[in-house]
Amino acid sequence: MTENSLTTKDVKVSYGQHESLHGVTLDFPKNQITALMGPSGCGKSTFLRCLNRSNDLLPDVTVSGEIEFEQQDIYGPKVNVVALRTQIGMVYQQPTPFPFSIYENVIFSQRMIGLHDRQKADEIVERSLRQAAIWDEVKDRLQRSAQSLSGGQQQRVCLASVLAGAPEVILLDEPTSALDPIASAKIEGTLLSLKDSYTIVIVTHNLQQASRISDQTAFLLNGDLVEADATKTIFMTPREQATSDYLNGKFG
Ligand SMILES: Nc1ncnc2c1ncn2[C@@H]1O[C@H](COP(=O)(O)OP(=O)(O)OP(=O)(O)O)[C@@H](O)[C@H]1O
Ligand SMILES: [Mg+2]
Repeated sequence: MTENSLTTKDVKVSYGQHESLHGVTLDFPKNQITALMGPSGCGKSTFLRCLNRSNDLLPDVTVSGEIEFEQQDIYGPKVNVVALRTQIGMVYQQPTPFPFSIYENVIFSQRMIGLHDRQKADEIVERSLRQAAIWDEVKDRLQRSAQSLSGGQQQRVCLASVLAGAPEVILLDEPTSALDPIASAKIEGTLLSLKDSYTIVIVTHNLQQASRISDQTAFLLNGDLVEADATKTIFMTPREQATSDYLNGKFG
């Protein structure tokens, strides 16, 4: 039987009085890539942010339902949220590097847990930037501010930062939407190679990308999960008409 890394049950999210996610139940199998797809505004980012409690950072958000990571309630009272967000790392749709150098952004979480060895830090920074397909672009300016980079570059630096934290789960919100086809292909290659060690959840509007790299695909619409299944099944024989319409470009 497939082991799940993360499980969710009846997850609802409201912003103020407005409920944007109406009860999503979905499991994320370990060492698999799950793609979340659906039209703009359907709740993909909202749901993704629940998985490492990033919604806690937004004002006036209410989350209900159950979310377990390795059988532990991530909203439980004893949870160390900062540690949780390293274990379940997230690359946001809007990249948000800290206002310091590329190098220090990547090594930040390792510094927090006491890494001072210069050589080890150098190794981790280079490996993570290579995995994130941005090493060649930044290797000569690692001391420059990460915020001076383009949006697509900042997103890859954020991915490198997540990878450097040695997470167990990686959440990616449209990680290639700002990238050219070559960089996108590199990121896809990275994700495929990483799934032996990590569980990956990726939000994407790129249907080809979802079908190329994911094992499981979930389709959301207007704050509901329409269906989730093996990616092949969703693309070849979806159960719901809405899924089929979406895949055929009839809306969204
Ligand atoms: N911080 C927020 N405050 C208030 N409402 C929000 C916030 N974030 C999202 N929403 C609302 O929740 C709903 C779902 O938004 P969400 O960003 O999760 O959609 P999405 O599927 O990620 O869309 P996109 O593909 O455009 O990124 C929308 O109606 C949006 O207006
Ligand atoms: Mg979004």
